[in-house]
Amino acid sequence: MKYWKKLTRSEIRNRVDEALEQNIDYHERTTLGIPASHLDETVFNKDAAYLNNAPFLKAMVDNPNHIGCHTMGDSEPFFAGTQAIEQELLGIVAEDILKCETDGYDGYVASGGTEANIQAIWIYRNLFKRDFKAEQSEICILCSTDSHYSMPKAANVLNIDIAYAPVVDETRELDAEKLQQVVEKAKSEGKKYFIVVANMMTTMFGSVDDVNLYVETLQNAGVAFRVHIDGAYGGFVYPFSTNVDHMNFSNPHISSVTLDAHKMVQAPFGTGVFVARKGLINYVFTDEAKYVNGLDATLIGSRSGANAISVWMILQTYGPHDWFEKIHILNYRTTWLCNQLRELGVEFYRHPSSNIVTMRGKQISHDLAHQFGLVPNEHNENPEWYKVVIMEHVHVDHLMPFVEALKATLK
Ligand SMILES: Cc1ncc(COP(=O)(O)O)c(C=O)c1O
Repeated sequence: MKYWKKLTRSEIRNRVDEALEQNIDYHERTTLGIPASHLDETVFNKDAAYLNNAPFLKAMVDNPNHIGCHTMGDSEPFFAGTQAIEQELLGIVAEDILKCETDGYDGYVASGGTEANIQAIWIYRNLFKRDFKAEQSEICILCSTDSHYSMPKAANVLNIDIAYAPVVDETRELDAEKLQQVVEKAKSEGKKYFIVVANMMTTMFGSVDDVNLYVETLQNAGVAFRVHIDGAYGGFVYPFSTNVDHMNFSNPHISSVTLDAHKMVQAPFGTGVFVARKGLINYVFTDEAKYVNGLDATLIGSRSGANAISVWMILQTYGPHDWFEKIHILNYRTTWLCNQLRELGVEFYRHPSSNIVTMRGKQISHDLAHQFGLVPNEHNENPEWYKVVIMEHVHVDHLMPFVEALKATLK
């Protein structure tokens, strides 16, 4: 691990303090040009004794704006201290977790998985148009029917078509034959450029797509393609719970990855992470962002530096080994639930590396689902599936009453 090390509380506090000291201090320096300041002190008390022991809240109150992308060279000098923490966070994600070569990436902390997925698709749409002289109508998003709704949202926002590859009902795996048919049909409709979004744990099932199947199918079809991984859910889980190495930058076909720290990392909302191989982000450079030092290559514009700090703090508090242990504890609890469901004869899907269990709706009553806050695949009278997500706060002691209640309803 190059960047990811377990740090003590005081090491983390000192590092954040140093970073904030390198940022602009609105009290000490009169800056007349930027429409930003610390949080309003008539509302948010700057109680130094309290904040000195709470680096994230201190960063929130200081309110650095991380506008732009800080892996590309020039950035706003006012926030250089905390931008360096964001760069380190991207190093942890891209190099230490996703096995990218040293400095071989660009990225930023986005508002969430939706933005990071749209950012990726935006890049490839522009790449195909600029480098391949593609017509808009010749470009197509390709993803599975289990993919998150941010893909059709991206298709809508970016005005490109989308094709869905069906999955097998029991295994949630891509259906190889149907995938080939979908690609052939898209080709017959004039599609020549495919933006693949492969899932590293889907929202509803925690299932993982076979990215090599996408690659082989599109190579055989003789079309151009780029592959983005949607690891909004699985980005901080799957790399620690599997030995399979296809879903990271060691695979030359993978161009970019989305991760969400505000899911399994329990960071504040607004902590999606987007990483792409070096240079790709240039395809969405907004040259018109002239008032921003270094211009802007992100979808979002202004964004909270405190959010980036929060993710860095959490990962550095655990370090890689404690993080590995944490994920394995969650998976142990998941296995416990699966064993109980098997004994009860309840049908469910679980990917072996995942902490999501998705049960067939027909065996789950509405009342039970309501009582335990299960999430359906669709909010209608008879959902096909209900899921349980084994988060940090979901212990076997919480699962036990659910299993007991389920047993009672089955009788
Ligand atoms: C697989 C997947 N992708 C993308 C998203 C979108 O993430 P966000 O809600 O952070 O925009 C989610 C959210 O649940 C997800 O599970």
